[in-house]
Order: sequence, then structure tokens, then C-alpha cells
Amino acid sequence: MAQLWGGRFTKETDQLVYNFNASITFDQKFYREDMEGSMAHVKMLEAVGILTEEERDAILAGIEGILNDVENGTLEITSEYEDIHSFVEATLIDRIGDAGKKLHTGRSRNDQVALDMRLYTRKEIENLKELVKDLLIVLHRLMKEHVDTYMPGFTHLQKAQPITLAHHFGAYMEMFKRDYDRLCDIYQRMNYCPLGSGALAGTTYPLDREMIAKLLGFEGPTLNSMDSVSDRDYVIELLSAMSTIMMHLSRFSEEIIIWNSNEYRFVELDDAYSTGSSIMPQKKNPDIAELVRGKTGRVYGALMQILTTMKGIPLAYNKDMQEDKEFTFDAIDTVKGCLALFTGMIDTMTVNKDVMENSAKNGFTNATDAADYLVNHGVPFRDAHGIVGQLVLYCINKNISLDDMTLEEYKAISPVFEEDIYDAISLKTCVEKRETIGAPSKASMEQVIALNEAYMKRISE
Ligand code: ARG
Repeated sequence: MAQLWGGRFTKETDQLVYNFNASITFDQKFYREDMEGSMAHVKMLEAVGILTEEERDAILAGIEGILNDVENGTLEITSEYEDIHSFVEATLIDRIGDAGKKLHTGRSRNDQVALDMRLYTRKEIENLKELVKDLLIVLHRLMKEHVDTYMPGFTHLQKAQPITLAHHFGAYMEMFKRDYDRLCDIYQRMNYCPLGSGALAGTTYPLDREMIAKLLGFEGPTLNSMDSVSDRDYVIELLSAMSTIMMHLSRFSEEIIIWNSNEYRFVELDDAYSTGSSIMPQKKNPDIAELVRGKTGRVYGALMQILTTMKGIPLAYNKDMQEDKEFTFDAIDTVKGCLALFTGMIDTMTVNKDVMENSAKNGFTNATDAADYLVNHGVPFRDAHGIVGQLVLYCINKNISLDDMTLEEYKAISPVFEEDIYDAISLKTCVEKRETIGAPSKASMEQVIALNEAYMKRISE
């Protein structure tokens, strides 16, 4: 047991209490951020005259040495220490002696851990943004490739109206653009430095909080020391944004699973992104999409956990807050993995254009357009709806599509129909006539693709 306190105690900590209280097994994940924070703190302490240049340099060299040794594997972070903060400080004192004992001047582990968590999540937000961007790059390419790939659009998983695959991918493009923007928003809001808040009430040392904020790349210092040590809003926001990303990935995965099924065959996943069965030799399973869908629950769980943990904690720091780490770290790693794999999976899948187009032709997706035809010839919409309903029933009984009916058959149900009905209900017409912004026609899609092009350029700068 190596801990930073004990002067006022008359007994050793019970071993089970020590184990229960310790966080080293998981907070070592931000060893780098902890040491970077300490180095900035020490530079500031010297600048305001609390440390001499010699002391500063000795501490900086000491911490750098520890960092190098941890990274090259010669120094192990062990559970002999209570947490990562204790490990760094105790190792520093071991290595450089008395100067090391000055590191913690004007600081508490409360503002230190608040800083470490911010530095760590801030870095991970950047990593998540990159991964969402990679997915957007693939979606943008797929949209450009599939403006002419017709497919049925669904409501209630029943064929509804014809769209294009570009339009379908475009829906996800919008979702992931919002996800990207959400990550940017969170970053901006959380990018303030809590260090210098002390345990809760600031400090009597003349710390330069502006300087340390600048050294660590923050917009500025946080403005209330109590809030600084007890705020985990940004963790909640991040988990919420990640849950939304997973919700989107999960919906998309579900569609890929359906499209890749034997019955649909709209797409075929690449062998490298599929798995087999130990018993059924014919199987090629979409396990990756299923796992992404499944792991969504895990990320939602982390969001529920932190919301519940934070509820009802009085100001300022309480040990409950140590529970902000494990599930958050797991969720971040999970979302990063899912994004990377999902992007690879859709980047490599084959699209069966003919199957998609045939499916759109054979599911009465042009029934609304047939009704619109009648409306354009003076039939009230409600009557037109009824007439086309009769046409559909007739076709179902004969096992044909609307396009296969003869003009005589049309006229038998309504004399309003003329030869131009065939053109009016062709797949191409159905799609191309939908040309308002956001609709699937090639012209509207090209407008949106141009806007996306500008968006992608902006986020890549
Ligand atoms: N391991 C603690 C945490 O993660 C560090 C802060 C400890 N502060 C304290 N007052 N015990 O929250």
C-alpha cells in the first residue's frame, strides 16, 4: 500500500478497504495526461515564484524520465499505489528526493483528476471525430456512386415509394454529420481548465490559472472552483453523443443485415467482413453488423450509469465521482472500434443494383404516382386512392405489377387512364419527379452532394 496520506491515522488501512478504494487499475489509462498536467503545473509554479528554476527542472526531468520508462516498459504501474496520481508523485520522490515533494503544492487530487479526465476525453473526442469523418468520406463516395441506383424506400418495412441508394445513404450522411457537429460542440464547451481549483475552494497560493490553461491548450480557466472539481457534465454529454452515434450505427447495421439476407440480396458483405458457421458450411454471417447493433446497449449502459451516479451528489467532490471512468473508457473504446469496423464493412460491400431496382419495380412503389396521375387528370385524391387500390388488388391476384397491365385493363377500372400512364409510373419518372430539396431525384441529390462536398472540405481543413 503506497498512499499519499496517513499522518492523522493511528491504524493501517484494512486491505479490503484499500482495494475497494483504489483506482489505479483503471486510472492508469491516463498516465500520460496525468504527467502532462503535472509538468504544466510545475512550469507555472516556477513562473509565479513558488519553485526555483532548479527545482522546476529537476521535477520536469524526473517526470519525463518516469513517462519514458512507462512508455518503453521498464517501469510498471502496479496496484501497490492507490491511484495514478500517487504512483507518479511517489515514484518522483523516490527518484529525485525532496524537490519531488513540492510537486503537489497548490493542488489537490480533486482538481488533478478533473484535469486528467478532461485531457483524456478531449483527446478521445478528437479521435472519435476522425473516425466519424472516415465514415462520412465513405458515405459521401457511395452517394456520388449511387444517384442512379433505384431501390424501394420503406415505411413499416413495407415497400413504399421508389428512391435511390444515394438518397438512402444520404439519410445516414445527415445523421453522422450531426454526430460530428455534436462532438465539436462538446469539445468547445468542455475545453476549460479546472487546475488551480484546489480541493474545492481554490488556493491561497498566487497560481496563474490563465497560464496553465494556455500551456495545456485550453480556452481558459474554469470559473468556479466548486463546479470545477465536481463537474462531470462533459462526460455525460460525450456518452450521450456516443449513444446517439451507436443508435445510428445500430439502425444502419440492422438495414445491412436485412439487405444482406438471402431473401433480399440488395448487398453482399465482403468475405473479409463476414464470418462462418461451425456447423453449417453454407453460412456467411453478418456478425460485425450484429455486434455493432449489440454493443449499442453497452454504450447506453455507460450513459445510464454516469447519469445515475451523478444524481444527488452534494457539492463539491465526493468519491462517487471516481465511478466516472471505467464505463466511460469502455464506451469510448467500444464506439471507436464500432466506427472503424462499420466503415470498413460498408466500404467493401458489393451493391446488387439489379436486385434493388427489381425490388422497387415489383412492390407497387409507384402506386402513389398512379394516384397522382389520376389527380392530374381531375380525379379527387381520395377517389384516385380508391381506384389505385383496386388496380393493386387486381395485380396481386394476377401476380403482375402495375407496369404489366394493359391499357384495356386500366380502362376497365377507370376510363381516365391513357397510354401516358406507363411513362408516368416508370421508376425513373417516379424518382425524377421528386425534385424538391432533400428528395431523391438526381437533380436534388446533386445539390445536396455539392453541399456535402463543401462540408467535407470544411471539416478536413
Ligand atoms: N481516484 C480519485 C478519483 O478518481 C482521485 C481523486 C481523489 N480525491 C479524493 N479526495 N479522494 O476520483
